[in-house]
Amino acid sequence: MTKRIAIIGAGPSGLAQLRAFQSAAQKGEEIPEIVCFEKQHDWGGLWLYTWRTGLDENGEPNHCSMYRYLWSNGPKEGLEFADYSFEEHFGKQIASYPPRAVLMDYIEGRVKKANVRDWIRFNTPVRWVDYDEETAKFTVTAHDHEKDSTYKEVFDHVIVASGHFSTPNVPFYEGFDNFNGRILHAHDFRDAREFAGKDILLVGASYSAEDIGSQCWKYGAKSITTCYRSAPMGFKWPENWEEKPALEKVDGNTAYFADGSTKDVDAIILCTGYKHFFNFLPDDLRLKTANRLAAADLYKGVVYANNPNMFYLGMQDQWFTFNMFDAQAWYVRDIILGKIEVPAEKEALLADVKEREEREEASDDVKYAIKYQAEYVKELVAETDYPSFDIDGACEAFFEWKGHKAEDIMAFRNNSYKSVITGTMAPVHHTPWKDALDDSMEAYLKN
Ligand SMILES: Cc1cc2nc3c(=O)[nH]c(=O)nc-3n(C[C@H](O)[C@H](O)[C@H](O)COP(=O)(O)OP(=O)(O)OC[C@H]3O[C@@H](n4cnc5c(N)ncnc54)[C@H](O)[C@@H]3O)c2cc1C
Ligand SMILES: NC(=O)c1ccc[n+]([C@@H]2O[C@H](COP(=O)([O-])OP(=O)(O)OC[C@H]3O[C@@H](n4cnc5c(N)ncnc54)[C@H](OP(=O)(O)O)[C@@H]3O)[C@@H](O)[C@H]2O)c1
Repeated sequence: MTKRIAIIGAGPSGLAQLRAFQSAAQKGEEIPEIVCFEKQHDWGGLWLYTWRTGLDENGEPNHCSMYRYLWSNGPKEGLEFADYSFEEHFGKQIASYPPRAVLMDYIEGRVKKANVRDWIRFNTPVRWVDYDEETAKFTVTAHDHEKDSTYKEVFDHVIVASGHFSTPNVPFYEGFDNFNGRILHAHDFRDAREFAGKDILLVGASYSAEDIGSQCWKYGAKSITTCYRSAPMGFKWPENWEEKPALEKVDGNTAYFADGSTKDVDAIILCTGYKHFFNFLPDDLRLKTANRLAAADLYKGVVYANNPNMFYLGMQDQWFTFNMFDAQAWYVRDIILGKIEVPAEKEALLADVKEREEREEASDDVKYAIKYQAEYVKELVAETDYPSFDIDGACEAFFEWKGHKAEDIMAFRNNSYKSVITGTMAPVHHTPWKDALDDSMEAYLKN
């Protein structure tokens, strides 16, 4: 087979794609030549922690949005690889909300075993992709930072796995120019200890606001104020945490809110989400979508309707993560290997997208959304040889997780759930989350 495939990004999605091809090769199938371009010096995507903010060591926009002390915000039982269990990796069952370093080790374990590192060109950002209608081939322009050299190569397919939680959405509020303290986006947040003893304001009402606020609370912030534009998070917060309606402006160190109340704060953290941002793609290849479950223009959530030789992985908003990326990667692999057919007419591709959008919009209930994404994962898994697993069981873990958060937002990570891959119950972690200040792998894994 002479086909050449470019994968852009070696985060969990790109690595899933490498593992999908390697698993076919392992079963004796002929696979195309694979080149994975990765702009960072190592694999892991967002899970590759760096202390850096702004630009990375190569002068590229820093990819990492994770921070010290980050623990999984959902149970690991909802994301476990069906072909590589936590027990296989760690030699034992582990507790349900691992810190970043533990999950990074798990992500790496599977691809080390698959021996696919040589397929990746590190320190190599993709700068541009062109498509030639006549030859039906893509030209990828990349920059090799080790050689400081820009080059072009030709491919039959491009798979974009560059993530969408790295380019911050940064709103402006009146008075920011003159604020007497630090204003940062969640993307640049690294260590909660910086805010110990401080009064902090977090703008936004989603996972980043909840989790960064919780970290700051845990590591000794004096007070936490969060403010919402649409709806409050509504958890039972600790007594030094207050939730307010929308921020209107700041003046000096005073923040003004829509209900007329004010709060003096030392720092403002904008937990205002991220943009799908692909500065290496021309208009005709670039996905333009909101962060939602039915991403725009993606047939089966992966095939780019405007050019079906191009694929996108992991572009949806995410309840399911690693196992959904796997389902997508196996599916894309089988399209490329000619085992799954994609309809030839663009109308058919767009009709599939429309059906998914309408089904997503039919309810704004959280359980509905979780089940919706579970059905999507099931749909893809059913069409490939990705090991089938109890996806409804994973939903149950998510439902329990939601309940545990509502009960006690500062203690939900003390719960444990049953693996849908091995059937084993996770142990209760040895230390309650709020008292576990050391987030190292050694500390987490000790019995
Ligand atoms: C703060 C935060 C916490 C999270 N916590 C969790 C969690 O607890 N559990 C969970 O399941 N999920 C979590 N997520 C969701 C996260 O999106 C997924 O876990 C996962 O990292 C997505 O994988 P990905 O490969 O699609 O994207 P990414 O992890 O973003 O990886 C994309 C890769 O593409 C590379 N890349 C980008 N542009 C280029 C280019 N032009 N050329 C070459 N390479 C490029 C990047 O360097 C990166 O390595 C979290 C997200 C954030 C922001
Ligand atoms: N492991 C962890 O613990 C962890 C921690 C952090 C993040 N994450 C992950 O990171 C991903 C991104 O989460 P996120 O919370 O950063 O983004 P998000 O879920 O997209 O939420 C963005 C928030 O910002 C608000 N917002 C956007 N623009 C605004 C503006 N101009 N003014 C005021 N508010 C504005 C939104 O409000 P509206 O609702 O009004 O639009 C929303 O509340 C998720 O997948 C999450 O799971 C995980």
